[in-house]
Amino acid sequence: MAISEYKVEPLFAEPVFRANIGHAISAEQEEYLKNLKMVENRDNLISEDLYIFEHPELASLKEAVHEVLDIYASEVMGIDQRLYVTQSWTLINHPNSGMHGHSHSNSVISGSLYYTKLPDPIPNMIFDKNRGYQQLEMTPDRKRQNIYNTPLNVVTPAEKDVILFSSGLQHYVEQNTTSEPRYAIAFNTFIKGKFGNYRDVSELAIAPTKVKAP
Ligand SMILES: [Fe+2]
Repeated sequence: MAISEYKVEPLFAEPVFRANIGHAISAEQEEYLKNLKMVENRDNLISEDLYIFEHPELASLKEAVHEVLDIYASEVMGIDQRLYVTQSWTLINHPNSGMHGHSHSNSVISGSLYYTKLPDPIPNMIFDKNRGYQQLEMTPDRKRQNIYNTPLNVVTPAEKDVILFSSGLQHYVEQNTTSEPRYAIAFNTFIKGKFGNYRDVSELAIAPTKVKAP
């Protein structure tokens, strides 16, 4: 007799976190960010300064992002240690530019902040389940895609939203098909606090070292 009943259960899941921090961003700060000095990146433009959250003009954004990181550490990761921003920068994707696939080294959680109006249609962030070389590519049939086999997931940014994701996740940004630039802030984080256990000889204390922007 053919089997008609079966059960599949998820073992683990990958979070993408989102929170709106519109209350912490003023029109002046939007202009300040848009006017930062930019340099050529591979496909888009990146701010020359890669520690923008150290600018006193952006203190309220830094504070709101840390509030979001505290929620993430406590509620999503379920830990007492705290996440803090390491490097932070702005990106501009002009019309016809996207961003190549990449992940973020030396970071625990990475984030994007869409600090100003976004073009329409919004170029999405695409997350790729595969983190590297695939000796055997098993592409699921489109009609039979599900959370277990999907190779890609689409996240659509929204104005003033912070989006957090695991730094090791491969992601890229779709080509900007509009006539308007797509502005974003990106940042990396690390974790600080005490880990492990003294008697288990697994104890570790991590305290941030202030890195001066070059
Ligand atoms: Fe990224």
